[in-house]
Amino acid sequence: MMITHFPAYLLLITSSLAAAQQQEANPAAPYVQSQLNICAECHGVDGISTNPEIPIIAGLAKKTLQRALFAFQADKRPNLTAQGHAIQAHLLQGNSDLRQREKIQQLSRYYAALGFTPAEQTQAFKQLTPQQMEKGKALHQTYCARCHKKQGRIDNNGVGILAGQWLPYLRHSMSDFQTNKREMPQKMVKRLTAMNEAELDDINAGVKEMDWLELLLLYYAAQAKMPNLSP
Ligand code: HEC
Ligand code: HEC
Repeated sequence: MMITHFPAYLLLITSSLAAAQQQEANPAAPYVQSQLNICAECHGVDGISTNPEIPIIAGLAKKTLQRALFAFQADKRPNLTAQGHAIQAHLLQGNSDLRQREKIQQLSRYYAALGFTPAEQTQAFKQLTPQQMEKGKALHQTYCARCHKKQGRIDNNGVGILAGQWLPYLRHSMSDFQTNKREMPQKMVKRLTAMNEAELDDINAGVKEMDWLELLLLYYAAQAKMPNLSP
């Protein structure tokens, strides 16, 4: 009896210790504390989403988090309708007399201080052939690496994290960009257009390959846990 109960008891102590340490490292302001369970409903505990359509937000740059939250509030970035409203409502509610701006800043500060944990992708990116991996790398370097540094693994200057972010979410992000539902940075538009033109040339020349954007996103998924951090 004692023995069977012991491990569970230990586990409880260990996990509450870990939680306490996390708290110490990144103490949540009272307002943030009041929102954590709400955010967790969709973005997972500590911002590590387990839903492939919903982004992991832990460890994104403060700049990225803030820009997204301001954009949702201003209705400048789509969200699944009901969910978008939910977020706005949650930002407004709570017995706190903080201003919106302050709420957004506090939430962003909190999630930015947590570590990014790559998604457990279930997709077939592992089936990329070595040639496809090479192609993905080359496309990344030519068209995306200037801003999405280290194979998309770091959120440099508010560009988000691509390597290890959920693939289905990244696919719908790209589709929102391309259908103007979400504003794409002008210089990213240019690079993407250049890539589309080069791809068209290839298609016209009869070189048949996987869709380049899809190849790139699969490439990023495959980079998440790779130790090599060259640019
Ligand atoms: C009802 C579900 C839901 C809730 C609750 C929710 N979110 Fe989200 N969140 C989403 C979805 C879905 C997206 C993806 C939107 C898109 O399609 O671009 C998102 C996107 C985001 C992003 C953008 C991430 C990026 O990579 O650009 C941030 C930041 C964010 N949420 C923060 C929060 C915070 C903070 C809370 C709690 C106050 C919260 N969310 C609550 C569903 C939710
Ligand atoms: C000139 C800089 C620049 C280049 C080049 C660039 N991006 Fe971006 N990218 C950004 C910025 C800035 C954001 C954040 C935009 C925002 O959230 O409003 C972004 C966001 C993204 C996102 C959404 C991430 C998220 O969390 O929602 C994806 C996906 C993406 N880029 C893919 C690419 C791909 C693929 C390429 C190459 C074809 C590329 N980008 C080239 C600057 C760039």
